[in-house]
Amino acid sequence: MAFLGIDVGTGGTRALVIDAQGTVVASASAEHQHFASPKPGWAEQDPRDWWQACGAAVRKALETSGIRAEEIACVGFSGQMHGAVLLDASDEVVRPALIWCDQRSEAQSVELEKLFGRDALIRLTCNPPLTNFTLTKFLWVRENEPQAWARVAHVMLPKDYVRFRLTGERAIDMADASGTLLLDVAHRRWSKEVLAKTGIKESLLPALFESPEVCGKISAAGAEATGLHAGTPVVAGAGDQAAGAVGMGIARVGAVSATIGTSGVVFASTDRPAMDPAGRLHTFCHAIPGRWHVMGVTQAAGLSLRWYRDNFGAASPGVQKKDGRDPYDVFAEEAAAAPAGSEGALWAPYLMGERTPHLDPNARAALVGLTASHTRAHVIRAILEGVTFSLKDSFTIFEEMKIPVTSIRLGGGGARSPLWRQIQADVYGHEVEIVAAEEGAAYGAAILAGTGAGAWSSVEQACDAIVRVAKRIAPNQKDSATMQNAYRSYRKVYPALRQVT
Ligand code: XUL
Repeated sequence: MAFLGIDVGTGGTRALVIDAQGTVVASASAEHQHFASPKPGWAEQDPRDWWQACGAAVRKALETSGIRAEEIACVGFSGQMHGAVLLDASDEVVRPALIWCDQRSEAQSVELEKLFGRDALIRLTCNPPLTNFTLTKFLWVRENEPQAWARVAHVMLPKDYVRFRLTGERAIDMADASGTLLLDVAHRRWSKEVLAKTGIKESLLPALFESPEVCGKISAAGAEATGLHAGTPVVAGAGDQAAGAVGMGIARVGAVSATIGTSGVVFASTDRPAMDPAGRLHTFCHAIPGRWHVMGVTQAAGLSLRWYRDNFGAASPGVQKKDGRDPYDVFAEEAAAAPAGSEGALWAPYLMGERTPHLDPNARAALVGLTASHTRAHVIRAILEGVTFSLKDSFTIFEEMKIPVTSIRLGGGGARSPLWRQIQADVYGHEVEIVAAEEGAAYGAAILAGTGAGAWSSVEQACDAIVRVAKRIAPNQKDSATMQNAYRSYRKVYPALRQVT
């Protein structure tokens, strides 16, 4: 018996097969060909491209696994959240999807705030209006492309479009639905009030399921396109953050993950829809029935380092080895030459505005506190520290909200480099853990599939059975004290920047 997880990301789609012990048997990816930014701040993809990539990735994963399609007992999904996929009555794509990072709907966010009042909208959906959320994207299309909107008969999120092509079912899970601003997150149902007041018909929306619930079967057409067996059940799955958290075992209350990819996310599992009255954290359903989560998002986490690499060159010649190593690993090695606190250099990582804690799409980045004694090593280290301070802002809000933090697991690129792991332990002032199989959202999607197929009695049980901690890193007391001082200075940078940018 094996389970397949399909993750519809931004750059590509990944298919991953696990066995009943949770061991990864095979994985394969296919890149997405289409990404358009027709105007600054706009971000569009063609949903048919995701479907093509799904076919290629699933076929490749099946081939390399050596597993027959009949042995895949269940399929689960995860995907980039918040995207607006619009289909007409014949299920054709009406226009390219506006994806998660599209920022064009600022006016619609303001309109929603006026229509409901910010506090009332937070009461109804647990979240304030943000350009990232799907509803504001629907409203943008309705206002700016009325002819296109008139043709819309069905809306869905990215992974749910791929599911639709595979099964013919229109379904969505609670976690991904939470990021639409149309879900009554506290009661896990579409919000009748938000639908009525915004004039979005409920008949446009997919049916809601819990993440490990079976919600359809692979159709004959789906089987032909992917090599999967027709009739294989599929579960609802989850948005990439909740699925990724499942893959890292973030199930019980108190379990927290800090994942540094392009963006950075601090994710805590909760047993209630814990709301930040200021809306600085997202309050969403978890991929576990009866659980919720809060998460804070740093827009430019790994992206800060990529921006530095792209604009100021790869690693310095003395350090760079021609052994094909990831330039980020080489950077981290170089940064280790600078002391904790980077001798006063501070990086504010607001290259793409900021979500948590500032909710400011117009925030700007800065490198401050430089002297002639600072070197490249200090600057790179300051970037690693600044990104980590930005993630710590989420922990600071958790403290205010009394959200318990009993363990912190690291994910993404930030979990790979020993230096960045230590910086995180020192900045959070808490032991951090590295899991043995850090396979991202596709792994969580496969666990949800296995749970749906009955291999585990619940998502928690699956996590207990298969997610293993490989390493624990304790904070270094002296460096941690230096970092707490540096964090206090970092917190003063954004208010100062607002005066000048
Ligand atoms: C979560 C978010 C991103 C996207 C892209 O709120 O915007 O994680 O899901 O992966």
